[in-house]
Amino acid sequence: MVSTAFMIDQKELEALNEALSEAEPREILNKLLDRVPNTAISFSGAEDVLLIELTKKRANPPSIFTLDTGRLHPETYRYIETVRDHYNRPIEALFPDSVEVNNLITIKGMYSFYKDGHEECCGIRKVQPLRKKLSGLDAWITGQRRDQSPARVEVPIVEIDKAFSTQEHQVIKINPLANWTSTQVWEYIRMLDVPYNTLHDQGYVSIGCEPCTKAIGPNQHEREGRWWWEEATIKECGLHRPNIQEKP
Ligand code: ADX
Ligand code: SF4
Repeated sequence: MVSTAFMIDQKELEALNEALSEAEPREILNKLLDRVPNTAISFSGAEDVLLIELTKKRANPPSIFTLDTGRLHPETYRYIETVRDHYNRPIEALFPDSVEVNNLITIKGMYSFYKDGHEECCGIRKVQPLRKKLSGLDAWITGQRRDQSPARVEVPIVEIDKAFSTQEHQVIKINPLANWTSTQVWEYIRMLDVPYNTLHDQGYVSIGCEPCTKAIGPNQHEREGRWWWEEATIKECGLHRPNIQEKP
């Protein structure tokens, strides 16, 4: 039994998912931020900027963090700065443990993921810093969508994050864009003149770290530009994979 000051039980979770199943992202965000105030936006530097846009008018907008793996594209760093200026909001950069990064690259080099998979590097550069951050939050907000990959077709609007919850501390994961398609997201970005990462104008659709992301061609699925040297079935890093695998 999880014992914590803040908690959402399974029954409430189901009711929230049902009530919000047809809701627009803004309504989802407003409802869940009222319910779970100690929540932050996890901003990757791509089209999940909509999460910032849709919460900007709240009296207390959620704080924003980004996982600075040290391996992002120069365009993404510049874009994060553009977003900070555009919304006049601080964006906390979460860095990996320097000793862990040092050990990895000293022993295995800068590109070990091409040889033995992305799990180890993502674990150090993304998952561990996120775990540390989430230990102080009740929930995090992501830009995951069901249309992003076959592995995400059942992403709920709100879930208990099994990957990051502990016996003592429940972590809720909020996916306000779950129901939206890429087309809807981009229509919204263009309609509201929201700043976007210039990599999108160069054929990049799903954007992650520079060595692990490439532009895609016509009719390729967006995830084909991520970790392209690996099996399609493992194209999730530890940020989201465990929840997807364990879904009933
Ligand atoms: S990933 O797991 O494959 O890298 P993806 O790029 O699809 O994830 O992004 C899905 C969501 O995960 C983003 O909208 C964002 O909420 C979160 N996310 C992914 N990468 C980062 C990052 N570097 N910093 C913060 N959040 C991230
Ligand atoms: Fe490392 Fe690539 Fe994962 Fe970035 S996406 S943390 S460079 S393996």
